Amino acid sequence: MSRIALVTGGSRGIGAAISRELKEAGYTVAATYAGNDDAAAKFTDETGIKTYKWNVADYDDSKAGIEKVESELGPIEIVVANAGITRDAPFHKMTPEQWKEVIDTNLTGVFNTIHPVWPGMRERKFGRIVVISSINGQKGQFAQVNYAATKAGDLGIVKSLAQEGARANITANAICPGYIGTDMVMAVPEKVRESIIAQIPAGRLGEPEEIARAVKFLVADEAGFINGSTISANGAQFFV
Ligand code: CAA
Repeated sequence: MSRIALVTGGSRGIGAAISRELKEAGYTVAATYAGNDDAAAKFTDETGIKTYKWNVADYDDSKAGIEKVESELGPIEIVVANAGITRDAPFHKMTPEQWKEVIDTNLTGVFNTIHPVWPGMRERKFGRIVVISSINGQKGQFAQVNYAATKAGDLGIVKSLAQEGARANITANAICPGYIGTDMVMAVPEKVRESIIAQIPAGRLGEPEEIARAVKFLVADEAGFINGSTISANGAQFFV
């Protein structure tokens, strides 16, 4: 029986590449999405990967969704907490709503995704958790006080979970993508995006598949001693 992997935000952008990579590696994948039914149906048609709709910012919604996935596919042994949003604005213009939306989705959403599967992982003595953080959680970013706070928070989550789960063969690791060619980065004004690319020694945006490869590495059965780590994948833009 192949292991079951849950990928939040798994039908678009980096998440879609992760879902595809894990399916190709032989895992059974459940991909969640928040809003776009047509895009999700198209993704399922193209890939054969089942999609489930719920709001990661809502605990009860997440718990019910996870129960549905487990009743249809089996116990979730791999979680990739990938779903995330931006609401960029310079701090003096950032509204409490922009702060809250990003915290609820990117930070509380990670709690809501992992917490319901954690007891089962502890009982079965196996779990692989990967949280998709960001270069901007490592270095901060102009107009992203909200987003950078959540992505830095993700690193605190994995470092703590790594210590709690280690004895039960549960690992928790983070990947910090740099600027990847997805809708999220394409939404940045062109001039700003050009200036960002100029700061990347690789001279280009990353590909979603370059992040998916790192996820596959971390979720392998053989990766049990890699725990609490942060993998940067940013074209040499920033080192910690
Ligand atoms: N560094 C320094 N200054 C910057 C800047 C930057 N990165 N970006 C904008 N500014 C400057 C502007 O040039 C402008 O300066 P002037 O007032 O002297 O003209 C000033 O900041 C503020 O500009 P505006 O008042 O026009 O700002 P705005 O309210 O229209 O907001 C913005 C514009 C939202 C900040 C827009 O510039 C933007 O989206 N910037 C990109 C932010 C960013 O990098 N987001 C990352 C998204 S990708 C992602 O998050 C994925 C990941 O994990 C990597």
